[in-house]
This record gives sequence, structure tokens and C-alpha cells, in this order.
Amino acid sequence: MLGIESSCDETGAGLVREGRLLGHAVASSMDEHARFGGVVPEIAARAHVHSFTPVVREALERAGLRTADIGAVAVTTGPGLSGALQVGLAGAKTLAFALGVPLYGVHHLAGHVAADTLEHGPLPDPCMVLIVSGGHTSLLLVRDLARDPIVHLGDTIDDAAGECFDKVARVFGLPYPGGPAVDRAAREGDPGAVAFPRPLTGPRDARYDFSFSGLKTAAARWAEQHRLHGEELPLADGAASLQEAVADVLTRKAVAACREHGVGTLVVVGGVAANSRVRALAEERCRGAGIALRVPPLKLCTDNGAMIAAVGDLLVRAGAEPAPLDVSIDPSAPL
Ligand code: KG4
Ligand code: ZN
Repeated sequence: MLGIESSCDETGAGLVREGRLLGHAVASSMDEHARFGGVVPEIAARAHVHSFTPVVREALERAGLRTADIGAVAVTTGPGLSGALQVGLAGAKTLAFALGVPLYGVHHLAGHVAADTLEHGPLPDPCMVLIVSGGHTSLLLVRDLARDPIVHLGDTIDDAAGECFDKVARVFGLPYPGGPAVDRAAREGDPGAVAFPRPLTGPRDARYDFSFSGLKTAAARWAEQHRLHGEELPLADGAASLQEAVADVLTRKAVAACREHGVGTLVVVGGVAANSRVRALAEERCRGAGIALRVPPLKLCTDNGAMIAAVGDLLVRAGAEPAPLDVSIDPSAPL
């Protein structure tokens, strides 16, 4: 199974056979977006056009395979940026048609969920999945990925957690992407130095929804106050406190969701799963609650083609119908 991912700024291709990752490659246009402080859709789409063929070729080389070995193609059809999705789908359709192999459309979030199976084997049924990246903050109850619908328990009502890191980092004067920069700056800081809010954690708030825009504003205001008074920004303390607030909210809600649904495994995926405090607090709280924690390695946490191939492989093995060659993208695909 060849998997293709192109929903945002990463062009990914991965090869999977019966649940095993054979090889994958990713090209990112992140550097081209850096000076704009965020992903520019048109630049991302053009970069996919340039990267598609080299990335597929590199994935095949790493897997020690040839084009003729491809038995099926899976591709992200949504959600994502429409121009970017369009490029990946056109490439995937072309390959499937030319090779005479079936094509499978894959939901991007199902891909993130399946990523962990490539490292730790099949997911237990049921499991709770927390997807935290620059584009998503979702809490999902997953049963059999190929057969049962994913239950969408909650989502962010405004910014994604990664977006909060990226935007606050900008106000703090840190480079893009902001998440890793905040993580680094936080190392020397005191996580209790600034009492940033824990949005939507009150007793009457939606249990599994998230909100990070108020936290972002609070952090920006904190930085402004220091500047107004002509003081140097205590950056390490600000970064550590912000990271603590995000990690606290994410892990508190995820562990509560596991408890309330009687689920014994939590899987954390997406770029923010790389955050050192998110990982440490998830470990601590899962251990305390007797929940098994699974976090895939970072290269499988961020957008890639292997995770799309993993879903395609599950679909084939479950006997799912392939997609027609006129299948289209769905930029705001619901789960
Ligand atoms: O999954 P991903 O590569 O792309 C999508 O958004 O789908 O996630 C990227 C996000 C960015 O917002 C980035 O700042 C964040 O993940 N990120 C981190 C860390 N590494 C990446 N956030 C916090 N701490 C990190 N160490
Ligand atoms: Zn993603």
C-alpha cells in the first residue's frame, strides 16, 4: 500500500505491507512559510507539485521497492487545504490509473490515529486518541478503525494547541514553528511563575472541548505588560508557564475521557505530542489512573504518508470498497 499525504505543508509518501512500515519520505515547505508566520495555502500547493514525484521515489527507494510493486494507493482526501489536497489526489489517481491498482480515500485524522500502529502494533479496542497539532485538537473514541465510525468526543472551539504555541511564540519573539522554540525556552523556566488560565476546565464547561484563544491572549497581554514597563521579558518563565497550562488542560481532559468511557489506553499523536511537558504530564497522569499511554515516535506524529498507507492497509484487509477514480477532495471532511 502506497500512502500519499498532502493536506497541509508536508508532502508525504509511505509504503506499508500488512501493518508493517517498509519505508517513507516527507518533504516540507515549512521554511517557505516561516517569514509569513504561518502556512500560505498557495505556496503549500505549489510545493506539493514539486515534491510529489521525488518523495514517492524516495519512499520506494527506502523500502527497496519499484513502482511495479505498488498494489494499491491510499490518499488523504480531507480535511485540509483544498489546493494542497488537490495535488496529492491528482498524483494518487494518476498512479493508481497508470498501475491499474485500487485507490482508497483516507480521512486525515484517521491517518493520525493509525500512525501509532506502525510502531506499537494494532490499537486496542476501544482506545482514546488525543490529536494535538497546528491544525487539530481533537479527542476521539476509536474502536475498530477500519469498520467502526470514530466517535468525535470533543474539539477546540477556537485555536488548535499548536497554533497557540505558534502564535504566542511570535509575540515572545521566538522563531516559527513556535512549539519547539517554546519547549526549548521553557527548560530553564518555572512552570508556576505565571498563573495562566486553564480554559474550559470549569464544572459547567463542555467536558471534552478545548479553547486556546483566551490562553493565547493572556500570554500576549503578559508579554505586553512587561514591555510597557520597559522590563526584559522573563521568557523562560513565560514559556514554561504557557507549556504547563496547555499540557495541564490536554492531559486532564484526555485522562478524564478515558475514565468516563472505561477506556484503558490513551494514544497521543500530532506535532504537539513532541512537547516534553505534554509527554511527561501524560505519563504521570496515565500512570496514576492505571491507563496505558502510547505515543508514536515524532516522525510518525507529524504529517506523513506512512500513516495514510496504514489506514489504506487496514481498509484493504477489512475488505472495504475502493474509491472511484472520480473521487474528490473534501477540505472540511467530518469524521
Ligand atoms: O502535526 P504537525 O506537524 O502538523 C499539523 O499541524 O498537522 O504539527 C505541527 C505543530 C506546530 O504548531 C508546532 O509548533 C507544534 O506542532 N509542535 C510543538 C512541538 N513540536 C512541534 N508544540 C509544542 N512543543 C513541541 N516540542
Ligand atoms: Zn495533521
